[in-house]
Order: sequence, then structure tokens, then C-alpha cells
Amino acid sequence: MSWKVFQIMEMQEISRKLKRVLDGYMSSRRAFLIVTIVLGFLLYFGPSMFRWLRQKTPIMIDPNIGCVATLLDPFSLEASRFDASIRKSYEPSDNSFLPYTGNGKLGLSVEENSHLYIMSKRSLSLPLPFQPLIHVSLPGTSSQEGVAVSFTTGIVHHFYCFSQKRKTIGVSQQVYAHRTIPAILLQSIKVNNPLSDDITVVLKQIGVVGDPDVHTQLKTVQGNEATEYYLHIGKVAVPDSENLVIVFAIAAVKVPDSVTVTGRGSQSLHFGLVLHHSHPMPSGEVGHISKELGTLAEEDIKKVLAAQPVALRKSHVQAWKQLWNTGFGISYSRAQGTLNGDKINATLYYVLSQTRALTLELTTTSSHLQELESWLSYPDMCYRGHHTLQASTLWSELKTEKEVNNVVALWLLTLDKQGCHNLLLSGSEGVMQAMVLSFGAFKFNNHHLEFATHPKDLHRDYFFRRLSYGNSTHLNISVVVGEDNKAVIYIALDRSDRDYYACDGGCLDPPIKLRL
Ligand SMILES: *[C@@H]1O[C@H](CO)[C@@H](O)[C@H](O)[C@H]1NC(C)=O
Ligand SMILES: *[C@@H]1O[C@H](CO)[C@@H](O)[C@H](O)[C@H]1NC(C)=O
Ligand SMILES: *[C@@H]1O[C@H](CO)[C@@H](O)[C@H](O)[C@H]1NC(C)=O
Repeated sequence: MSWKVFQIMEMQEISRKLKRVLDGYMSSRRAFLIVTIVLGFLLYFGPSMFRWLRQKTPIMIDPNIGCVATLLDPFSLEASRFDASIRKSYEPSDNSFLPYTGNGKLGLSVEENSHLYIMSKRSLSLPLPFQPLIHVSLPGTSSQEGVAVSFTTGIVHHFYCFSQKRKTIGVSQQVYAHRTIPAILLQSIKVNNPLSDDITVVLKQIGVVGDPDVHTQLKTVQGNEATEYYLHIGKVAVPDSENLVIVFAIAAVKVPDSVTVTGRGSQSLHFGLVLHHSHPMPSGEVGHISKELGTLAEEDIKKVLAAQPVALRKSHVQAWKQLWNTGFGISYSRAQGTLNGDKINATLYYVLSQTRALTLELTTTSSHLQELESWLSYPDMCYRGHHTLQASTLWSELKTEKEVNNVVALWLLTLDKQGCHNLLLSGSEGVMQAMVLSFGAFKFNNHHLEFATHPKDLHRDYFFRRLSYGNSTHLNISVVVGEDNKAVIYIALDRSDRDYYACDGGCLDPPIKLRL
């Protein structure tokens, strides 16, 4: 007897038994009625149950998800090396970081309704009554979003996908606070239309919010095409002060209400914004300052409009790459709650984003630059505290603006107190040096460098990249933990105008001459 026949036999057997049981309780007519009701129930509620099941497994169903994943794909390698952080609207994650851009003069998180922030005390924590982010939508469609923050280029990539007739329309937005011209914030939007019909994407920049005292004018620049921009002038109260205010002027290119993209076409748009603000001052004295700031903002927005977007982007990216010449790597640990490269890189990114890259900014004069470089090359006494990799408060959560601002302020305060004042004065490059020195508790002392991490704390591999060591000399230092759990330290030097020596803790053994 084959298996199939056996099965049928068994089925018949079961139904016979079932019938016998049922017969004991009800007539077969009643049984038929019940079956009919059950079938009716399924027909009626089946589709909505099916929909509910679909929601539970969206990966298979929502075409927007595949679309966002494709747009994020170029960042997956960077993200796997912790050089980028990714967030997806359809896959909330516990260990993602706040999408953020800043340059020490202005900063903002790339989230709905986020404000433009300026410096207050040690971080970009004073919000202006202005929401600069351009929001993109396509009415009558469903959507998903993804954000990739590229730490090494300092650009936030925001992707939107909209599905219509089972086809997806992808929109890529880039947002960045310019690294070498810190008064400007740039946003670009690219729409790809794969449909044969035209589509109209709705754009919205909220701009001034909740402050009737901001004075706004619409102005026009004559160029190849006349461009309109808004000039907003207002003031904000300085927190914890009596009667002090900061006056600000924002010139922002007018964002159209919508953009129409022809079938199978694509379109790119670029929007610039310029911000200038005053120092804290008594509110009675703001009159002429407002006017000056307004003029400055207008001059600058005209320069932004005249510049090539590609060239602006290039100088920004180059400057960020230069900041990351110095850096730190650590081997990955799976142990729960341990600090890893993702959070270290993110923290470095936020602190750099909230300090001015003075050595790279275009307006830095050559005499000022000389002074900055002298501070940078002789980091005497930095860093003289305990190594910071184990100070848990310096590695707090980085999910909200408030958390990010607190962590940044705490880092800068700690470095300042522990002998790194001069490095901080030299701007972001010095801040990077100081942070990396602090990770290893490296200490400069009369032109020699001490590695003050206790051997018992060395159970992971470290790589300190391009520590500055006087007169344009740099060191790479790697700590490699062997199978016997002993750490070996390697040092590489990029210059040999004189002899360099290394010795171990306390220099009890004679120093060893370093070679290139
Ligand atoms: C990010 O972290 C990893 C792991 O610590 C490190 O190897 C890498 O160099 C870091 N990225 C940058 C740009 O410093
Ligand atoms: C730095 O190096 C340059 C070139 O080798 C040399 O001329 C100069 O004297 C050095 N400066 C100091 C302060 O050591
Ligand atoms: C230091 O490390 C960087 C990055 O790995 C490398 O490009 C550079 O050549 C190294 N410098 C020396 C002196 O080994």
C-alpha cells in the first residue's frame, strides 16, 4: 500500500470517527450549518486578517522598503566599519545615533521639526526660532525613509521612497553645515521619477516658528534666473543671563511649494542658508548690529548662489577628511555593554561638529593660522587625566539633541581641565588630537610623550592614528594583544629630522631609539 493511499484511508477513517462523535451531539444538518458559518466568517474577515499578517512581515510586501534599502546600500560598507550611522523608518534600532550636522557655528539634527542651534557655553545648545529642514512628500502615496550620516564626509543623507501603482519614487536629500564656511547650511534634493507620468513632489520648509518678533523680508537676486530669498532678523534671549540677547540674521533661499518632475526624468535642487549672529549683548543696543548682520547675510547668500554646488561640497568633504587624519581604532568586543568603535566614532563626530575647524576655515588669516598651528604642534600637558575610555559619563546615549549636547559639553570641559586648553583653542583639529590622546591617557611632558594606560587595562587592540608630536612630526601607535594576553606596542613615525626614543613605564629601562 502506497503512502498516499494510506493517507486517504486514514482521512476517511478520521472523518468516519468524527461523524460518529458528532452524531452523538448534533444532526449532520446542524454540522453543515456550522461549517457554513465558519466559511462565511473567513470570507468576511479573511482579507483583513490577511492584511494584518502582511503588516507583521513588511519585508516581503512594502516596495518602499526595498527602495530605501537600495538607496542606503552605498553606505553599508562605511556603516560596517562604523564610519557611518544608519537609521530606517521601518526598522527601529536601539543602537542608532542622532542624525546630525554641525560646524561649531551652527548645528541641527536631521529630524522632523528640528531647530537651528547656535553656541551657548560649550555646545551648540541655543535653539533659534527657525526650522530650516526641507521636508519632502508625495501626496496620495505611502512612504518609508532612511538616513545615513557619513562621519568621514560630514554629510547627512536622507532618503525618501514613495510608492504609487507598485512603482517606487526615490528622493535623496543631502544636508550639511559647511566645514570651511561655517555660516552656511546647504540642502540638496534629487528626485528620480521612474514613472511615465509627471509627478509633483511637495516641499516644505517651516522656517520661522513661534516668534512674532522676527522681521522677515522677501528679496530677489538677479542672475541667470532671478532667485528669491528671505532675510529674517530676530533675537533670542541668552539663557541664565539678565537682559542679554543674541541678534541673528538668516538669509535663506526661498523653497518652492512643489517641484514637478517629468516622466522618466530626474531633477536636482540646491538650497543655501546663511546665518550670522552677534555676541550676547544688552537688548537695548541691538539696533545697528541687526542691520550689519543683515547686510553680511545678504552678501554671503549671494556668494552661495554664485558658487557651484559641487565645488562647495568638495571643499566641505575635503576638510572633514582632513580632520579624520587623526583618529582611533579599537578591536570589536561582543561583551554586553562594552564600548565599541561605533559609539567612539559617533562621539568624535558630534564633538567635531560642535567645534570650529579654525585651521581649515577660509576666513582664517595667515597670522592667526600660524598661532593656531603652534598650539596644535606643542600640546604640552595634554592629556593629564585618567584615560577616558572607561569614563562611562563621557560615553552616554546619543539619541536626542539634549544627550548629544550634554556629551559634547562634558568632553570639552574634561579636556580643558586636563591640560588640553591650547589644543582646544586651535579648533577641531586640536580637539581631535586631545580626544585621541585622552583615549590612551597619553601625556605630553616637556616634549616627551608618555603612555599612561596601565597594562592591566590593555586587553583589546588599539590603533592611535597620527598623533601630532611637535614640529610637524606624527606618530602612529598600535597596541596589539597577543595570544598570551600580553600587549605589544608598535610605534611608527613620519619624520626623522632628529632622533626619537621610546621607553616603558617610568623609563627604568634605557630608552630605545625609534626608527621610521
Ligand atoms: C571608526 O571605528 C573603527 C573601529 O574602532 C576604526 O577602525 C575606524 O578607524 C574609525 N573610523 C574613523 C574614521 O576614524
Ligand atoms: C622644525 O623643523 C624645521 C624643518 O626641519 C626646522 O627648520 C625648524 O627649526 C624646526 N623648529 C623647531 C621649533 O624645532
Ligand atoms: C599612520 O597610519 C596611517 C593610516 O593607517 C597611514 O596612512 C600612515 O602612513 C601611517 N604613518 C606612518 C608613519 O606609519
